[in-house]
Amino acid sequence: MANDHPAIRFALLSDVHANLHALDAVLAHITARGDIDARYHLGDLVGYSAFPNEVVARLAEEGIAGVSGNYDTTVAHGYKHCGCRSENPEQEALAHISFEWTCRAVTTATRRALASLPFRLDLRPLGGHVAGPTLVLLHATPASNLVYVTEDRSDDFLRKMAAQAGVRAGDVIAFGHTHKPWSRTVDGVLFVNTGSVGRPKDGDPRAAYVVLDFSAAPPTATIVRVPYDVMAAKAALEEGGLPGAFGLVLESGLA
Ligand SMILES: [Fe+2]
Repeated sequence: MANDHPAIRFALLSDVHANLHALDAVLAHITARGDIDARYHLGDLVGYSAFPNEVVARLAEEGIAGVSGNYDTTVAHGYKHCGCRSENPEQEALAHISFEWTCRAVTTATRRALASLPFRLDLRPLGGHVAGPTLVLLHATPASNLVYVTEDRSDDFLRKMAAQAGVRAGDVIAFGHTHKPWSRTVDGVLFVNTGSVGRPKDGDPRAAYVVLDFSAAPPTATIVRVPYDVMAAKAALEEGGLPGAFGLVLESGLA
């Protein structure tokens, strides 16, 4: 029997942050390309934008499973803070406004949906009947959904992540949380930061998602950017009573 297998492509969406305009644009983009076999999210579904309940409902309608971001677990469990890192007192004050707004806005159904998200998901895109590869989905690291895995992290840091996750050469670890997409292979393990659908911070305001292609070994990652109606998202969050500063982040792609 041939070892070839059909094309298997997964789309990964992270850090939607209640931005329904960006999420719907990404879902439409994935549908239009027609070559994606499965879609997953990597957490931080809520916070900073106007549609936390609608985003959670849309993902459920679409059957998109995923893992819990820091925003999801802190809202779900009524923690004191979203766990987001602030660069200065002004950002800290804005982070509190967003967290309190979101905690007030979420319905019981949304809170329960957030509380039920798993911390990590282990997938076998080619099936459990073959040796691999394994795809591990996280929001940040295998130990915490608060740690920022930025592009400048050392190879040693990533090796420790791989050991904690229990993966080996040929496997993939995917995560978000920093809102800046990148990917790198260390000791044969592919590390993929998916960037952010709803609140990019890399200077490109377009929504970001990642396509993982398992059609050939080793798997590959492609970062995709999707334009969406930023001004409508900006207007909606202001109409919802959120600070205009959050709209400026959407417009600039910078926080
Ligand atoms: Fe986030």
